[in-house]
Amino acid sequence: MAASALPQDISDAELVGLARTAMKRAHCPYSKFPVGAALLTESGDIILGCNVENASYGGTICAERSAVVSAVSQGHTKFRAISVVTELSEPASPCGLCRQFLVEFGDFKVIIGTAFNSKTLITSTRELLPFAFTPESLDTFEQEKSSAMAEISATTKEHDVAEVSS
Ligand code: THU
Repeated sequence: MAASALPQDISDAELVGLARTAMKRAHCPYSKFPVGAALLTESGDIILGCNVENASYGGTICAERSAVVSAVSQGHTKFRAISVVTELSEPASPCGLCRQFLVEFGDFKVIIGTAFNSKTLITSTRELLPFAFTPESLDTFEQEKSSAMAEISATTKEHDVAEVSS
């Protein structure tokens, strides 16, 4: 298979171009605010996402999350970059929920662009969500719980020995 089938070295501008393609597929009859995202996986695949709104407004999913959901469904959990575009004249930052959703998968590049000009804001998932709650927070909790259990069990044993010998 030709190596070019999996673009390893796609430029930021190309990724923005793909996010624009995704943006054209947005289903946004209520807000009329289309958003597109292009997610570059570690393996070099590109997964597109767009916002998909719903008549029950709370059912709406943003473009960034739609790209991640699609990628994970296709077996990708490691990402190198995501580009996001809107029709605003300045790069528009992802919403809070999307920032949380993105940082779940680690620190990777975020290229925020626009539909009609070449302005970009380059940042990262970590930078977008300082003090993030991440899977590591849960790992730390597990470790702390195990150490606390080990300590309790050691103290209980010491206590038992003391009782027997007295
Ligand atoms: N939207 C996104 O797709 N991504 C964001 O980060 C912010 C907002 C969408 C959701 C909704 O369809 C529309 O933009 C207006 O909020």
